[in-house]
Amino acid sequence: MRYIGGKSLILECIDDVIHTHIGVPKSVLDIFSGSGAVGTFFKNKSYLTSCNDILFFSYVLSKSAVELSDIPCFDNVPLKADCINYLNDLKIEDTNINSKDCFIYNNYSPIGGRMYFTEENALKIDMIRITIENWRKSKLIDDNGYYYLLSSLLNAVPYISNITGVYAAYLKFWDKRALNPLTLEKPIITDNGKMNICYNKDYTELLEEEFDLMYADPPYNSREYLPNYHILETIARYDYPDIHGVTGMRNYGNNEKSHFCQKGNVNNAFETLIRDCNSRYIIISYNNEGLMSTADLTALCKEYCVNDEFRLYEYDYRRYKSKIPNNKKGLKEQLYFLRRR
Ligand SMILES: C[S@@+](CC[C@H](N)C(=O)[O-])C[C@H]1O[C@@H](n2cnc3c(N)ncnc32)[C@H](O)[C@@H]1O
Repeated sequence: MRYIGGKSLILECIDDVIHTHIGVPKSVLDIFSGSGAVGTFFKNKSYLTSCNDILFFSYVLSKSAVELSDIPCFDNVPLKADCINYLNDLKIEDTNINSKDCFIYNNYSPIGGRMYFTEENALKIDMIRITIENWRKSKLIDDNGYYYLLSSLLNAVPYISNITGVYAAYLKFWDKRALNPLTLEKPIITDNGKMNICYNKDYTELLEEEFDLMYADPPYNSREYLPNYHILETIARYDYPDIHGVTGMRNYGNNEKSHFCQKGNVNNAFETLIRDCNSRYIIISYNNEGLMSTADLTALCKEYCVNDEFRLYEYDYRRYKSKIPNNKKGLKEQLYFLRRR
């Protein structure tokens, strides 16, 4: 999934730092996992991998890609076709779903005054989401089956969303891709022989857990993630939230806002992250235009590292994002490495 601040283009740089300073880590925590790209990379390297993110849809994506090691069993679902094909072919008349209960259709398609999805696709998202929930409630699928199917839905939705990349606004005309029918695909499930685990917690709740390496990629500016991905979060939770404004944003309180997105709190948030971390090594992804200055973050790393084991790596943003035109001059992607204990 395309994700703001996603690190899929910098994976090899992260791996180089790991090899240079650690070798093969026994266990790794990706504490701000977002799209799950880094956690999936760690899993594929055969590290014992844990992922965490405060957003539920991110947890769902990692749960399927990182925690699952087998395709779940769907033997209890009485279907002729397999589950993914069945969900793709679902018609409202084959279900007993009432369109009044279809939250996406009623709020994010033209019938609800917004153009995030065509009415057909919005209704299909609801039918699939409600069916997955009903299967779980009636114990036709277990938790693994639930997260597998949900991640398939969440991965498919961006391909038919009438947006330019995030859900902070929708287009006022139909983009060609939004007119394609929603199509679920089978999630890729791999087995690295380890008991990988995913969490959906605030980062502070995981710091005392011991890992060989904590990889931390927090937000680096004041753009919050929830407003940019609010519809994916609502599809994942399907909790009929109160929504407001032109974009139909789900309400969220001050306590749900990330301290990493607030100039007044970011330094304390980093200090908590580094000081309270019980892992042996830390790698932090950031950039030189983040809310916390390079000088301040460097000073913090030096204060808490042991044996003077600290190193800052910087990568030219233009090279790293070479596929993107008009990218910013002078911007550097950074990896801060330190030994914590
Ligand atoms: C830069 S993104 C991570 C991107 C990820 N490395 C990738 O490649 O997709 C930062 C993530 O931190 C999460 N986040 C922000 N504040 C958090 C907190 N207090 N606890 C846990 N996760 C948080 C956001 O939801 C977001 O997904």
